[in-house]
Amino acid sequence: MSVDTDFELAFIKVTEEAAVAAAQTMGWGDRNESDRVAVEAMRKTLDELDIAGRVVIGEGERDEAPMLFVGEEVGACKGQEGAVGVDFAVDPLEGTNLCAFGTAGAIAVMAASERGGLLHAPDIYMDKIVVGPTARGKIHLDAPVAENLRQIADSFDRDIEDLTIVVLERERHRQLISDIRDTGARIKLIGDGDLSAGITAAVRGTGVHAVMGIGGAPEGVITAAAMRCLGGEIQARLTPLDEKQRARADKLGITDVEKMYSTEELAPGNDLLFCCSGVTDGQLLRGVRFFGRGYRTHSLYMSLSRGLIRFVDTIHREDVHTPVYFQ
Ligand code: FBP
Repeated sequence: MSVDTDFELAFIKVTEEAAVAAAQTMGWGDRNESDRVAVEAMRKTLDELDIAGRVVIGEGERDEAPMLFVGEEVGACKGQEGAVGVDFAVDPLEGTNLCAFGTAGAIAVMAASERGGLLHAPDIYMDKIVVGPTARGKIHLDAPVAENLRQIADSFDRDIEDLTIVVLERERHRQLISDIRDTGARIKLIGDGDLSAGITAAVRGTGVHAVMGIGGAPEGVITAAAMRCLGGEIQARLTPLDEKQRARADKLGITDVEKMYSTEELAPGNDLLFCCSGVTDGQLLRGVRFFGRGYRTHSLYMSLSRGLIRFVDTIHREDVHTPVYFQ
C-alpha cells in the first residue's frame, strides 16, 4: 500500500476542510477563532484516515494545545499494529492574522512522511533563506546578503535590481532590510506567512526569488518538505530569542543551537507529501469562494517519490439533488 497514491484525495480533503472552516471566519478580526475552527476541521479529517498518524509539528506542546499537539496520535488506526505509520507536520492555518483581516496569503497546510521523515523542531524562531530550483546550491545562510543576492541574480541571469526578496516586516529585520536595500534588490515586505512565501519563491513566474529572515521553526520544517518536492532549497538555524525558547530547544535535546540545517536535514523523508489549500487569495492559490449552494477550493498537492506537483481546483456542491449548473 502506498500512502501517497492511496490517500492523495483524502490528504487534499484534510487541508481543504481546514481552509473552508477558516475562510468562513475571514475578516472577523479574531485570529484565535480562525485558528480554532481550522484546527478542529483538520483534526476531524485526519481522524478519518485509515492510518496510524503522529503529529511531529503541530499547534504546540501538549500542555499548550488542546488538539494537534506535538506527539498526538491521529488517524482511524492509531495504536493498531500493522497500520500504515505516518508522521505529520501541520499548520491548519498559516497566517492567522491574514485570515482574521481578510488579507492575502493565508493557507491551510500539512506535510506527511514515513516515520522519522520530518524533523521534530521546537516551536521557536528560525533564521532561514529559501530559494527555488534555479538558485539551489548557490546560497549560504552565513554568506553576506550582497553575496547571496549576487548568486541568486546570476542564477536567474539578471541584475540584482531585478530580484524580489520577501521579508517578514518585523523590527528584528531592520538590518536585513537595510542590507537588501543597499544591493538595489526589490523587497516585498509581508505581514505574515513566510511559509507560503517560501513556496512561491520556488515556483517560476511568481516574481519572487528568495525569502530571507527569521520566522517560525515549525514553518521552516514544512517549507523544507515543500522544497524537497519542488527541488528548491532552504537553509536554516534555530534562533531562540529568549530563555523560554532556549528551554524548548533543550527539552527536545537540541544542544547545538548554532547548527545550520539543510533542506534534507529538516525533511529527510523519502516518502514526503505536501498539501496546502488557499484560505484567502494568494500568489499561488485562490482562497475559498462560497457561492451559496457550495464552495470552491484551490489546493496544491505534491509527492516527492512520484515527482508530482498537482494543482487541484475543486467545486464542492452542497445541492447534489438539485444541480445548480443544469437548472
Ligand atoms: P501564524 O499563522 O501562527 O499566525 O504565523 C504566521 C507567521 O507569520 C509565520 O508565517 C511566521 O513564520 C511567523 O508567524 C513569524 O512569527 P512572528 O509573528 O512572531 O514574527
